[in-house]
Amino acid sequence: MSELVIKNLHVSIEGKEILKGVDLTIRPGEIHAIMGPNGTGKSTLAYTLMGHPFYTVTEGEVWFKGQNILELEPDERSRLGIFLAFQYPVAISGVTVANFLRTALNAHRRAFNPEDKGIPIPEFRKMLQEKMNLLKMESSFAGRYLNDGFSGGEKKRAEILQMAILKPEIAILDETDSGLDIDALRIVADGVNALAGPEMGVLLITHYQRLLNYIKPHFVHVMLDGRIVESGGPELALHLEEHGYDWLREKQDNGIYA
Ligand SMILES: Nc1ncnc2c1ncn2[C@@H]1O[C@H](COP(=O)(O)OP(=O)(O)OP(=O)(O)O)[C@@H](O)[C@H]1O
Ligand SMILES: [Mg+2]
Repeated sequence: MSELVIKNLHVSIEGKEILKGVDLTIRPGEIHAIMGPNGTGKSTLAYTLMGHPFYTVTEGEVWFKGQNILELEPDERSRLGIFLAFQYPVAISGVTVANFLRTALNAHRRAFNPEDKGIPIPEFRKMLQEKMNLLKMESSFAGRYLNDGFSGGEKKRAEILQMAILKPEIAILDETDSGLDIDALRIVADGVNALAGPEMGVLLITHYQRLLNYIKPHFVHVMLDGRIVESGGPELALHLEEHGYDWLREKQDNGIYA
C-alpha cells in the first residue's frame, strides 16, 4: 500500500529539538492540511520527509512502500514517488524549466527501468504543453531559466508544473499559497485538484484557510511546538480562522497535550 506513515518523529536542528513526536498517516487520495503558528515545525517536517541534511532525526520512523524512507537519500525518496514543493525554491541559472523537468522525469523513469532511454522529446513537449495549459501558463515559460527572476507566483506555478510532470504518489506542498494573487491561487489550486485523486496523497502546509476554500482537505491538523495537537476536518480550519491559536496554547499550558 502506498500510504505514508510517520511514527513518533523527533527532529533536531543544531542540537535543538524541533519536532517532538509527530504521528501522521496519509493514504492515497487523501488531502491533509497542516496549519499552526510560525516556527512550530511545519517546514521542518516537510524538509525532514525529503531528507534535507540539515535536519537530524533523533527518533521515529517514516514508512512508504515498505521502506523506512529516513534511510534513503533525497533523490531515492523522490524516485519512490514523494514530491516536495519548497517554501523557498532556489534558482538554477543556465537550466531551462523544460530541461529541468525532462531531466527530472527521465531520472524517475530510469528508477523504474534502468534501460529506459528517456522520454522522446516530441512526446515530452506535448506532455509539457498539456500540463502548462492545465495550469494556464504561457508557452514561453518553458524556455526560461529555472526560478531565475521568477515572481513569487511564477515559482509556485513552476512547482505545480513539476508535480504535474512527475506525478508523485505523495505531494508535500509547503506554503504553496504564499505570494500568489487571487487568480494564481485559484489556478494553482485547480492544478492540485486536477492532480489529486485516488492515486495521490497530499500534505498541504498553509497559514490560510483561504487556500482550503479551493483545495478541500479531508483532514486538518494543527502543529504546535513540534507536535500535532489537534486534528479534524475542514471545520477545524474555519475555527482557527475565527479564533486564532490562543485556545490551543491555553490547552497546552494546561497540560492537555502533555
Ligand atoms: N536552519 C535553521 N537553523 C536554525 N534554526 C532553524 C533552522 N530552520 C528552522 N529552525 C528553527 O526551527 C523552528 C521551526 O521552524 P520551521 O521552519 O519548521 O517552522 P514553520 O512551522 O514552518 O514556520 P512558518 O510558519 O514561519 O513557516 C523555528 O524555531 C526555527 O527558527
Ligand atoms: Mg514554514
